[in-house]
Amino acid sequence: FDAVDVIRTKRDRGRLSDAAIDWVVDAYTRGVVAEEQMAALTMAILLNGMDRAEIARWTAAMVASGQRMDFSGLRRDGRALPTVDKHSTGGVGDKITLPLGPLVAAFGVAVPQLSGRGLGHTGGTLDKLEAIPGWRAGLDHDALLRQLRDVGAVVAAAGPGLAPADAKLYALRDVTGTVEAIPLIASSIMSKKIAEGTSALVLDVKVGSGAFMKTADDARELARTMVDLGADAGVHTVALLTDMSTPLGLTAGNALEVAEAVEVLAGGGPADVVELTLALAREMLAAAGVADADPAAALADGRAMDVWRRMITGQGGDPDAPLPVAAETETVTAPAGGTLTRLDALAVGVAAWRLGAGRARKEDTVQAGAGLTLHARPGDTVTAGQPLLTLHTDTPDAFGRAREALAGAVDITPAGPTARAEPASAGH
Ligand code: URA
Repeated sequence: FDAVDVIRTKRDRGRLSDAAIDWVVDAYTRGVVAEEQMAALTMAILLNGMDRAEIARWTAAMVASGQRMDFSGLRRDGRALPTVDKHSTGGVGDKITLPLGPLVAAFGVAVPQLSGRGLGHTGGTLDKLEAIPGWRAGLDHDALLRQLRDVGAVVAAAGPGLAPADAKLYALRDVTGTVEAIPLIASSIMSKKIAEGTSALVLDVKVGSGAFMKTADDARELARTMVDLGADAGVHTVALLTDMSTPLGLTAGNALEVAEAVEVLAGGGPADVVELTLALAREMLAAAGVADADPAAALADGRAMDVWRRMITGQGGDPDAPLPVAAETETVTAPAGGTLTRLDALAVGVAAWRLGAGRARKEDTVQAGAGLTLHARPGDTVTAGQPLLTLHTDTPDAFGRAREALAGAVDITPAGPTARAEPASAGH
C-alpha cells in the first residue's frame, strides 16, 4: 500500500478496503506512515465519513495495535464474576464514575475502569482521584485483577500497551482539528473498551454545549455507532443520551468533585448527580444480569461507601484525609435578580481549566484544589448581588481569564410582574 493512495481514496469519497485500513493503522503505529499523512487521512475521514464496516475494521485495527486484557477467568467464591464498565464521552463536572463504580460493585459485579486524564475543558477521572492524598492510578495487571476480585471496583490508568494506535492518533487529532468526527470518536472510545476486556459496557453519551456532540442528532448517531461496534466485538453495549448543557452537580474541578462524589456515597449530594448515578447503575446491573437490585438503598445504607473506602485504600489513598484546598477564592455574583435560566457548561469547563483544574498540554500538571463551586442552578431564583459561583485557584493571576470565559455564560430572566392571586369566586 501507499499512504498517498489511501488518502486519495478517502479524499475522493471512496471506501477504504479492510486491507488498506489494517495496513494504514499498523503502519502509522509503527511510524511508517508519517504524522502529516495520517493528519490528511483523518481530515478526509472527518469530511467524508466512513461506513459501518469501515468503522468496525478501523476499530479492530486499533485494538490489534496493542494488548488485550481478559477478565473472563475472574472468580469470587468459585463463581465467575461479571464485568461491566461505564464510559462517558466527556463533560463538565462529570464525577459520576466516582460513586458509580463502588455502587455497582456493592452488588457483586466487577467494575474495571481504565480511565484517562482530562484534556481541554473536560475533566479526567484519574485527575480527580489523584486529588486524594496517596491515591495512585498506576496498578500492574496482577494488582488490578486482585482488586477487582477482592473489592470489585478499580479505577486505573490504561497502560501504554492498550490500543497504542489510539494514543498516537488522539494526540494528532487534538492538534489538527479532527477530534469531532463521529467515526474517529467512536473507534477511539470503543477500541480502548474492547481492548480492556469488559464483557458489558454502558455508555453515557453527552449532548449540549459542554459535550463534543452539540446536538441530539449527532449524539444519537455517535451512540448508535458505538453500540454497533460493541455488538460487533462481542461486548454487550447500551447507551444513554444525557444533558451536558449545564455542568453536572455543583462542582467542577478535581478535589471539589471528589468531595461531591463522597456526599453522594453518603446518601446526599445534588439531585442531578444522584439521579444520573442511579440511572447508570441500573443499566450496568441489568447488563451484568443482576435482577432486583435497589441501588438507591445501597447509597442510603452505606454499602456503596464501604466499597469506595476499600477501593481508595486499595490504591494507596486515605479516604479520611482532608482534600486539598485552593489557596485563593473569588466570588462571582448575580448581576440581576430573577430566574437563572442558563448556566453554560462549556464556559464553566473552560473557566475550571483556566483556574488550573485542567491541562493545555498532556505533560502539564493539574491543581487539585482548582475549579468552581456553583451556588445556583438553572431553575433557581436568584437575587441581584448574591453569590453565583466561587472560583478556586492557587494561581490568582488566573481569575481574570476565568472571568472572561464566564462572560455571557449566565442568563437571568427577570421575574415578571407577579399576578396577584384573587380569591376564587363562583360566578360574577
Ligand atoms: N474520548 C476518547 O477517548 N476519544 C475521543 O476521540 C473522544 C473522546
